[in-house]
Amino acid sequence: MEIRILVAYASKYGATAEIAEKIGQVLRQAGLQADVLPVHRVSDLMPYKAVVLGSAVYMGRWRKEAAKFLRTNEKLLAERFVWLFSSGPLGEGDPVELMKGWRFPEGLRPIIDRIQPRDIAIFHGMLDMKKLNFIEKFAIKNVKSPVGDFRDLDAITSWTTAVADELKKQSE
Ligand SMILES: Cc1cc2nc3c(=O)[nH]c(=O)nc-3n(C[C@H](O)[C@H](O)[C@H](O)COP(=O)(O)O)c2cc1C
Repeated sequence: MEIRILVAYASKYGATAEIAEKIGQVLRQAGLQADVLPVHRVSDLMPYKAVVLGSAVYMGRWRKEAAKFLRTNEKLLAERFVWLFSSGPLGEGDPVELMKGWRFPEGLRPIIDRIQPRDIAIFHGMLDMKKLNFIEKFAIKNVKSPVGDFRDLDAITSWTTAVADELKKQSE
């Protein structure tokens, strides 16, 4: 049986979009069918057996469109296999430790509890000062955040491989 997966994402400056593309690529290499789309372009969840949903994190929150997607589609998501990921922490080291216990935006907890995702991952992010607006530059300088591309392709690949393995097992 063909397993079709939606990888939906919300990205402001492209780092999360590229993580989503990588996830789609790994799923396809594992023999699954994956569509990778920004959340605002997703029109129908019915064709999908599973959804991987990810957002960039800004000021401890997901992008508005990702939170909206989760709220709007709660019922359909609760009927599917769901994996969530955030792209955020900058700097070297364990992304979970860098987030100091933050796992997902607290305001989304009730919905996430009802959807019961299979896993919630945090991946390192990327920050390019040249792309930021004035306020963002100010905020970043103020917290002395590391700047650069900290994304870890190996971590993304191994997490996605586990997602693919679980989906294949569920479909046997
Ligand atoms: C103004 C600003 C605030 C940010 N706040 C957070 C944050 O609260 N937590 C976090 O982990 N990363 C934070 N980041 C880092 C971004 O989430 C990270 O750069 C992400 O990979 C960007 O994804 P995008 O290119 O898809 O928008 C912040 C970045 C900026 C510019």
